[in-house]
Amino acid sequence: MAKIVGGISMSHVPAIGNAIAKNLQQDPYWKPFFDGFPPVRAWLDKVKPDVAVVFYNDHGLNFFLDKQPTFAVGAAPQYVNSDEGWGIPSLPPFAGDLDLSWHIINQVTRKDFDLTTCQEMVVDHAFTLPLKLLWPQDGPCPIRTVPICINTVQHPLASARRCYRLGQAVGQAIDSWDKDLRVVVIGTGGLSHQLDGERAGFINKEFDLKFVESLTADPEWSTQYSIEELVELTGTQGIELLMWLATRGALTGKVRQESFNYHIPISNTAAGLLVLENQ
Ligand code: DHB
Ligand code: FE
Repeated sequence: MAKIVGGISMSHVPAIGNAIAKNLQQDPYWKPFFDGFPPVRAWLDKVKPDVAVVFYNDHGLNFFLDKQPTFAVGAAPQYVNSDEGWGIPSLPPFAGDLDLSWHIINQVTRKDFDLTTCQEMVVDHAFTLPLKLLWPQDGPCPIRTVPICINTVQHPLASARRCYRLGQAVGQAIDSWDKDLRVVVIGTGGLSHQLDGERAGFINKEFDLKFVESLTADPEWSTQYSIEELVELTGTQGIELLMWLATRGALTGKVRQESFNYHIPISNTAAGLLVLENQ
């Protein structure tokens, strides 16, 4: 049977791509951020996943305002990096896992979620940069991927409770997969940040830390808040923390915090990096 080894939740910021391309890992601005990754890579070397199921939010690349699915699952042989620019080298396509994609789609639909299935899907910085940070070697990313996109671009958004439940359904689907696979669940977005408007630059460290703490022992804690309250607490883009909640939902076993790094700011974002092992 498939085994969920754990979850990695982390922020995504396009400027990270530029920092990687320019080798700025030791630069004083970037070092506290990049220093979070070696322990996570050491953990990955230990748990050896074959596949990553990635909760992320598209930023208007694959889905625009004309069509905006609440939950979309990739079912493509590969996912092409087609980011918004920034002049950085684009990354090679990411391999899909068609069998696991369709298994998840079938199982999660049976649990009454209405999914959009994408047999073609281009992926932006929210998908590509976290994978590059976790597997920095040259060439294609060494593991297969299943992207799951949650809308954070156009309201109405799915509630925190619904995203948590989606994660649970995905976790149960992986657990029921009759193949000897090791799966890591990844969530990318957040933590608190707001890029525009009167509160541009808004960060809420106190809430971020409380939220992260809740994920281990009391994962439904944040589902008490409405989307509007979460935007108030974390910023318009901080709502991307829904990916962390879905990731936590997918951890079906006993959860142990393996590591956590938090650094303010990277660009306009409170950058978090959390590993929860699924025992
Ligand atoms: C930034 C953060 C994001 O989540 C994003 O998608 C784009 C930019 C930022 O802080 O610059
Ligand atoms: Fe984002």
